[in-house]
Amino acid sequence: MTQTEDKTTPSTGDTPLVPMEKIVSLSKRRGFVYPNSEIYGGVSGIYDFGPLGVELRNNIRRYWWWSMVQINDNVVGIEGNIITHPRVWEASGHVENFVDRLVECKNCKRRFRVDHLPEENLEQNKCPVCGGELGEPRVFNLMMETYIGVVEGERMKTYLRGEASQNIYLDYDNVLKSSRMQIPFGICQIGKAFRNEVTPGNFLFRQREFEQWDLQFFVHPSEMQKWFDYWKARRFEWYKGIINHTDRLRFRAHGPNELAHYAKQAFDIEYRSILGWQEWEGIHWRQEWDLSRHSQFSGHDLSYTDPETKERYIPWIVETSGGVDRTFLFLLLDAYEEESPSDKDKEGRTVLRLHPWFAPVKVAVLPLQKNKQELVTTAKDIHNHLKRLMVSQYDDVANIGRRYRRQDEIGTPFCVTVDFQTLEDQTVTVRERDGMTQIRLHMNELPAYLVEKVTWM
Ligand code: GAP
Repeated sequence: MTQTEDKTTPSTGDTPLVPMEKIVSLSKRRGFVYPNSEIYGGVSGIYDFGPLGVELRNNIRRYWWWSMVQINDNVVGIEGNIITHPRVWEASGHVENFVDRLVECKNCKRRFRVDHLPEENLEQNKCPVCGGELGEPRVFNLMMETYIGVVEGERMKTYLRGEASQNIYLDYDNVLKSSRMQIPFGICQIGKAFRNEVTPGNFLFRQREFEQWDLQFFVHPSEMQKWFDYWKARRFEWYKGIINHTDRLRFRAHGPNELAHYAKQAFDIEYRSILGWQEWEGIHWRQEWDLSRHSQFSGHDLSYTDPETKERYIPWIVETSGGVDRTFLFLLLDAYEEESPSDKDKEGRTVLRLHPWFAPVKVAVLPLQKNKQELVTTAKDIHNHLKRLMVSQYDDVANIGRRYRRQDEIGTPFCVTVDFQTLEDQTVTVRERDGMTQIRLHMNELPAYLVEKVTWM
């Protein structure tokens, strides 16, 4: 099914699911996401991130890195390159196996991935949209080709990496020797991946250039099950900890015909949105596939010798592989809410209930009135102090209610208002986004109060 037609699960739960158009519109309007090369008509499946988008992405990446690398003594990080030796992709199996099968409807000309077609359409060879006859499946390799070198005939064809994790296998031996790690241990990386997706779509969900985060955890074969279960549970808890609608999260086991060429077993952590249940992260039992293939293709022995028992073996791998872009999209879909007018807010508002850790702007500093110089000066002083600690915005345009709503819509967890009382006793109003509750704090207490609320450490 094409991604735009992939809306298999309507809202079945308590809270209505947010239409994708709302997120696309907010993203463009407020500077989260823009279509890439828009002035030339855009490129399908490729996006750019605006001022708020880049802050949100950085916060997402930082939190993942902190919780996967920084606090785990048995995990280290690397940053590999997008371009590698072309043999890497032969060894990894991507040149041969990284393909999608596509069928086209003879009547309406829509294209569908064979693995996304409902069973009955597959059996009856029938288009799920117009009922027309489907053509013969065609096979497409998803790897994006590129060339190294300038002289025609001497240029080397290679690929933009189709999955970021390959760098980890390539650097595994260097990490082992340079960091004194011993099995069991893990290597993490966040990095771009490129795929010539045959059906890109649904905004950031399926793109041609996107960013993945990976943990590759190297274990003794006898401990594979233990570590697979361990990381599977930890990653599920991680996702549960960053969303509001925890009932929209589940595991789904891959069927035997669905497994990637490298996986002996796999579970997806799925999130339910307007797109139905969809993959957010994959937990893959990669076994010895990667290191043995790279040993074989490169001639470099990647087996491990246990320093105590002297046992020699190819380590097995547990992979947890998710997407920065899908996290970005699912967080927005999870956090977006349109509130009707109420006693607290007479006009109603759009609010992004993002966890304060991820909010692109942590605090907005607002003088009650723009035409009172002392209020403006004090508010600017507070902003200039806070911006060294966290992302702070100064805003004095429009009435205070409108300014609050502008911040609610981008998920700013706190607004600090400088009013006439501030000039007398140096206290300010701190308004919290979700409950719209307000407290008064002394200006000197503000930095510590906010830092504690908006950082995870
Ligand atoms: N190394 C394993 C691997 O690449 P995958 O399930 O193909 O596995 C892992 O990808 C994650 O990357 C997915 O769970 C998803 O979050 C993200 N991802 C994959 N393809 C994507 C695409 N076309 N656009 C955006 N994110 C994508």
